[in-house]
Amino acid sequence: MTESVDASALADIAGTLARSVGQMIHEKRAAGVDIAATKSSLTDVVTAADEEAERILTAGIRELRPEDAILGEEGASVKGTSGVTWVVDPIDGTVNYLYNLPAYAVSVAATVADGAPGTMSDGRRAIAGAVYLPVTGELFTAWEGGGAFLGSERLPGPSQTTLATTLLGTGFGYTVERRTEQVEVLRRVLPRVRDIRRIGSAAMDLCLLAAGRLDAYYERGLQPWDYAAAALIARESGAVVRGLGDARPGEELLIAGTPEIAAELAEVVAEAYRALE
Ligand code: IPD
Ligand code: CA
Repeated sequence: MTESVDASALADIAGTLARSVGQMIHEKRAAGVDIAATKSSLTDVVTAADEEAERILTAGIRELRPEDAILGEEGASVKGTSGVTWVVDPIDGTVNYLYNLPAYAVSVAATVADGAPGTMSDGRRAIAGAVYLPVTGELFTAWEGGGAFLGSERLPGPSQTTLATTLLGTGFGYTVERRTEQVEVLRRVLPRVRDIRRIGSAAMDLCLLAAGRLDAYYERGLQPWDYAAAALIARESGAVVRGLGDARPGEELLIAGTPEIAAELAEVVAEAYRALE
């Protein structure tokens, strides 16, 4: 039931909701921040703003698209009948938000599950999405086949083809086990690249890559809400978004960059993970 979907209209909805919720959480941050709960570990926090933002996003989607399903990082789970599932991350970069560091984002994506190229490891493919950076007021949007934009400017995508001069974004999970493994992989990757950036928001990393402000990105352990909108934005900017070997990109690994760098990184990272076995 998804053939009649107008992806550019969904991107408009994603952008409007991400911007209005982003402005709300930005204003709220000025008044301070409250930790509401912890999740996978003591370091994995949820603020009251995450919860409120997800409630507002969910209500907005239900009002505009009552037949669609919704999946949110903070537990939103709404069933639908249209074939479209909205995947939302109310604050990607929650630890930055907690510390009042500027790198946090609101991510809203409309996804389908028909298995067409571009499908991620969770079985869904974003057809439209938006990522809003509240501190800079930058709105990144994309829809399938329509290109990726920052405001009204088309994004150029990454251009770097030499690994040794690649500025590489990455991130770390919240559990001790995941981090121990990630630091071992990073030990092998860091000497091969220009430098590493751990910005603290996967959605922002992928949008910066689409804008040419990072050359490449990789991370293990991402969840659909972290990448749904931003992986589409990266792909529509011209970047390759891939997984390990022939695997779909997603939780096991998401790598993005030019075709050359994505392929080289996939080899380096695969070798590093093999060395851990
Ligand atoms: C996290 C951020 C971070 C990434 C983690 C994510 P959260 O999301 O995207 O950059 O390294 O894997 O869990 O917890 O800030 O919404
Ligand atoms: Ca997230």
